[in-house]
Amino acid sequence: MINKDRMPVHVAVIMDGNGRWAKKRGLPRLAGHNAGMKAMKKIVDHSDKLGIRYLTVYAFSTENWKRSIAEVSGIFRLLVSYVNSDLQELVRNNVRVKILGDYSELPEDAVRSLEKTLEKTKDNTGLQFNIALNYGGRDELRRAVQSLAFKVRNGQLAPEDITEDLISAELFTGSINADTPDPELIIRTSGELRLSNFLLWQSAYSELVFPDVLWPDFTPEEYEKAIEDFQSRERRFGGR
Ligand code: FPP
Repeated sequence: MINKDRMPVHVAVIMDGNGRWAKKRGLPRLAGHNAGMKAMKKIVDHSDKLGIRYLTVYAFSTENWKRSIAEVSGIFRLLVSYVNSDLQELVRNNVRVKILGDYSELPEDAVRSLEKTLEKTKDNTGLQFNIALNYGGRDELRRAVQSLAFKVRNGQLAPEDITEDLISAELFTGSINADTPDPELIIRTSGELRLSNFLLWQSAYSELVFPDVLWPDFTPEEYEKAIEDFQSRERRFGGR
C-alpha cells in the first residue's frame, strides 16, 4: 500500500516505449505517441489525486530532432492538440504548467499554444506539471555556465562566489523559471536503464525506478507500484 505520509514531492518521468508499443501492434509510431499522450493525461490526474506537488515529464529531448520530420511534427501536433483541448481542464484542476527547455525553437503554433497555457495556468496553486521540451541536461548546464560567465564578465558575480545553489538557480528548474525542487523519484518505463540526458544535475540523489512496461501501458496502478518501490527504499544522501 502507498503511504500518503511519505509521498515524493517531485516525481520525474521518462516516457519511453511508445514506438515499441506501436510496432507490437503493427501501427505507425505516431499511434504510439498518441497512446502515450493518453497515458500521460492519466498520470497527471493521478499525481494530483495523490497529492504530489511537482510532476515532470520528458516529452521531447534535444536529441529527438534526429527523428524523421513526420514523427517530430506529429509529436508537436499532438502537443498542440493536448494543450488546446485540455487547457480548460488544467485550469479547472488548478494545475500550473511550466516548460523545461528552450521551447522557442518549436513550431510557431506550438509556441503560441504553450504560451497561452503558461499564462492561463500561472496563478494556479495545485500540481505543477513541468513538460520538458527541447530539453537536454547538458544543454541546460551549458546555458547555466554561460549565464554565470556573463555575470562574472559584467562584474555582477565573483568566481569564488559560485555555489551549488547559484548553479541550481540558473537551470530550467531554477527559481526564475520552474522553481522546482530536485526529484526524489525518477521513473523510466520500457526496461531501458539510462537517464538519457534528463535532469543530470537534479538527479544527484534521486531514487530510480524502471518499470518493465512500455509507456502507453503505464497505468495509475503501475505508478502507485513505482511509488511503493520508492517508499520501500531508505534514502541516506551520502550519510549513514
Ligand atoms: C519515447 O518513446 C517518447 C517520446 C520521445 C515522445 C513522448 C511523447 C508523448 C508521450 C506524447 C506526446 C505528448 C506531449 C506532451 C508532446 P520512443 O518513441 O523513444 O519509444 P521507443 O523507444 O519504443 O521507440
